[in-house]
Amino acid sequence: MQTASANIPNHVAIIMDGNGRWAKQRGLPRLEGHRRGVETVRAIIDAARELGIRYLTLYALSTENLQRPPDEVSALMGLLEHFLRRETKVLIKNRVRLRTIGHIEALPAGPCRELQHAIEATRLFTDWNLVLALNYGSRTELVDAARAYAAAVAAGREQPGDASWSTFSRYLYTADIPDPDLLIRTSGETRLSNFLLMQCAYAEMIFSPLLWPDFSKAELAAAVEEYQRRERRFGLTGEQLKTGAAPRPPADTP
Ligand code: FPP
Repeated sequence: MQTASANIPNHVAIIMDGNGRWAKQRGLPRLEGHRRGVETVRAIIDAARELGIRYLTLYALSTENLQRPPDEVSALMGLLEHFLRRETKVLIKNRVRLRTIGHIEALPAGPCRELQHAIEATRLFTDWNLVLALNYGSRTELVDAARAYAAAVAAGREQPGDASWSTFSRYLYTADIPDPDLLIRTSGETRLSNFLLMQCAYAEMIFSPLLWPDFSKAELAAAVEEYQRRERRFGLTGEQLKTGAAPRPPADTP
C-alpha cells in the first residue's frame, strides 16, 4: 500500500452496508452476503492496522437490525459467534483490544460469552482498538448517557451548572474512545442510520458505492488518501488554520 504515513486518521468508523444486495445480485440467499461480509471484516481489520489506524469501529448490528426476520438475526448471531471463536487468537497475536458499544447483554448467550471472553483477553492492549457496535443506536446511547448523568447529579457527583460537552460525553458508551476522524459507509446509501451521531460531529465522511462484501484493503487505503486531501476546519477558516491563529479542535470537542 502506497498511502502516505502522515495524517493517518486515528479513528475510522464504518457502516458496513450492502450484504443483502450483494447476495441478491447473485441470486444467493442473504446469509451468503453476510458470510462474505465477515470475510471483508477480517480483511479490513488487518488493513486498518497495516495503515496505522489505531481505532476501527464497525457498525455490525443496529438496534433496528434486531427486528429483522428471526432466521436472519439468528444467522447473524451465529456468524458473530463463529467469527469471535476464530478471530480472538488473531486479535491477541496482533495485540488488538476488542471493545463493544451497544446493549450486548440482550444478545443470545453464545455470542455474548465469546464477546466477554475476547474483551477480557485483549483488555490490556493499547495500540490497536477494534470497536464492534452491536445492538447499538445513537439515540439510545444519548438517553442512557442522560440517565447516568442525571443519577450522578442526584448523587452530588456532577454539578449541572458545570455541564459541558467534555463533562457530559464521559457518560457516552465511547467515553474513553476518541471521536472518529473518518466515517465510511458502503453500498451507495448516504445516511448515518443512528450511528455515532454526536461523535461524528467533525468526522470527514466518505460514501463508497461498493457493497460491503466487495470493499477491500485497496478501497480503505483509497478512502484514507481522500481523507488526507481534505482540509478539516472544525468550523474555523482555512486562513486561521494556516496561520495557527486559532485553537483546534474547538474546546467543545473532547
Ligand atoms: C448490512 O447489510 C449489514 C448488516 C446488517 C450486518 C453486518 C454484519 C456483518 C458484516 C457480519 C457480522 C459482523 C461481524 C463483526 C462478524 P444489509 O443486510 O443491510 O444489506 P442490504 O442493505 O443490501 O440488504
